[in-house]
Amino acid sequence: MTRIFSGVKPTGPLTLGNYLGAVRRWVEVDQHRADALFSVVDLHALTVEHDPARVRRLSRQAATLLLAAGLDPALCTVFVQSHVDEHTRLSYLLECTATDGELRRMIQYKEKSVRALASGESVRFSLLSYPVLMAADILAYRTDEVPVGDDQAQHVELTRDIATRFNQRYGHTFSVPKATRPAVAARVMDLQEPTSKMGKSHESTAGIIYLLDDADVVRKKIMRAVTDSGREVEYDPETKPGVANLLEILAGCGDLGGATGGEKPADPAALAETFTSYGELKRATADAVIELLRPVQERHAVLAADFGQVDVVLKEGAVRARNIARPVVDAAYRAVGLLPAG
Ligand code: TYM
Repeated sequence: MTRIFSGVKPTGPLTLGNYLGAVRRWVEVDQHRADALFSVVDLHALTVEHDPARVRRLSRQAATLLLAAGLDPALCTVFVQSHVDEHTRLSYLLECTATDGELRRMIQYKEKSVRALASGESVRFSLLSYPVLMAADILAYRTDEVPVGDDQAQHVELTRDIATRFNQRYGHTFSVPKATRPAVAARVMDLQEPTSKMGKSHESTAGIIYLLDDADVVRKKIMRAVTDSGREVEYDPETKPGVANLLEILAGCGDLGGATGGEKPADPAALAETFTSYGELKRATADAVIELLRPVQERHAVLAADFGQVDVVLKEGAVRARNIARPVVDAAYRAVGLLPAG
């Protein structure tokens, strides 16, 4: 059976970008068709300045939101990365496989290290090594597919290179995974700055829709979204990034085609032809996002009232994850020449 692994890091509250680019597909498609594991990858939240209490709160909130979005522990495994030691155990072996040059080429490292230095922070070594831990997250489960948004494609490419190199050097140990991306909304942009990705931790939140934003806030943010000069609604990400982003979001809110993937999602270019003004497009997009988020928010409210239930799911998920990862990581330890502990 195909094995799927993906994760979300608790550096900020989850956004519409996370939902349309990744989580929605995990729920509606991936958990039904594969042996799938989804993780709140909390160790990745420590690569930049962070407040421990906030990381704790956001980790729990992210896990609760994944379940509220519809991940079903009867179908898939949901767990917290730091509860399964195999990720860090494997990461070191992969640090011995990756090269300094290939890590320094990672776009996210380049962007985030420049930002950290500009705000007077030092750049943590873990910011550079982070894609190696991500590779360990994936390879520890002999993962075949990694459903992610566009911004993670380069990290999955690196994971493939590391897996291939390790297998060539030490014998076949890991599956070589491939990234899968959504047909639409693979890169949701900031509503105020439609040439940058909608990220969890942008300084200004006006262009970010959080999954827990209430309907009024969602409507306000979308109605105030930056659009482009001209008046015609056209799908052209180069010359009209603001309008194209709204069209992508609207298309991403449509039917995904379910586990069979039978039906194709709406095409943003075709959707454009159904609108005669930016205002009309914004209203339709706001309505669609509000409707999409409503059931998630309702289930989140119920689950958040009883964290005990979420904790049980995470505990069982960690046991399941550990049972899969343990023999894989043990095999990697033996393959590189480390003595078995007995
Ligand atoms: P993170 O937490 O930034 O994002 C989680 C998922 O959401 C996708 N995503 C987006 N998709 C479309 N538009 C956006 N604006 C947008 N923002 C985020 C991301 O592509 C991702 O799929 N390094 C990862 C977490 C991670 C991971 C892993 C993922 C750690 N280990 C192993 C897969 C496999 C990250 O920072 O995701």
